[in-house]
Amino acid sequence: MSTTPRRITVTLNDARVTANAGQSVGAVLMGQGIKAWRTTRIEGKPRGLFCGIGACYDCLVTVDGQPNQRACLVEATDSMTIEGDFDA
Ligand code: FES
Repeated sequence: MSTTPRRITVTLNDARVTANAGQSVGAVLMGQGIKAWRTTRIEGKPRGLFCGIGACYDCLVTVDGQPNQRACLVEATDSMTIEGDFDA
């Protein structure tokens, strides 16, 4: 039995990257060195993963055109597009 994770390809804004199947969208972003992918409306403060369990809503991101998805809860899938305020 192989323990090597299956690889998937996702698009981060305009950049195609590979990730392990089963990773959350937040894990894929963090794995690319992206720690923040949106800013707060009033003060423009950077936001990314905070609680990591779906409670704080700091990690909101657009996934396959659907805005306000919690990156810590959504599993990354092959050919997924993830858009946010970051440079990949
Ligand atoms: S990090 Fe808190 S909801 Fe995703």
